[in-house]
Amino acid sequence: MNFKIKIIVAILSGVMIVSSSCNTNQAPDNLFQELGGLDTLELVVDTWIDSLQSDVLISSYFSNVFNDSIATLNFRNHVVEQFCSLSGGPCVYKGRDMQLVHHPLHIQPEDFEKSVNYLRNVLNMYIADESIVLNFIVRVQLLEPAIVNL
Ligand code: HEM
Repeated sequence: MNFKIKIIVAILSGVMIVSSSCNTNQAPDNLFQELGGLDTLELVVDTWIDSLQSDVLISSYFSNVFNDSIATLNFRNHVVEQFCSLSGGPCVYKGRDMQLVHHPLHIQPEDFEKSVNYLRNVLNMYIADESIVLNFIVRVQLLEPAIVNL
């Protein structure tokens, strides 16, 4: 192989390596941006917590949390972190393991469904595109086995 051909082969293999690494890196998950980023997620979580607090049955599970402003703030911040990370955002969830927190509470499927419906209504208040809302709701629904325990 003469020198010119060697250079062309080297350039082409470089291009192939770069393009194959782009292919394996799928399209970036931009649900976090589509949802409006951290500002919107914080609004969503605060409004969702208001809905949970207004529901007598759901809030009965949270008596230890909602009676204590620091516990409520911790809960709120952990849910924000979790929603941010679930949507592909830059946060790391630093709360407790979901199953360890929820299973001892014996949360029933209808209570889970009700909470998710509240969340969907809240998302609809801030996000116009229903497909974005549903995309996020599907991710939250995947948490059901870690939350519901008959
Ligand atoms: C719908 C999806 C749900 C999500 C994404 C979710 C998320 C979370 C998160 C992130 C925490 C905080 C854990 C920590 O601070 O270490 C938490 C705690 C808690 N969740 Fe859920 N949760 C959901 C559904 C429910 C439901 C349906 C109930 C009850 C009806 C419930 C009751 C609780 C309670 C009582 C705590 C506090 C437990 C404690 O501090 O001892 N959660 N949840």
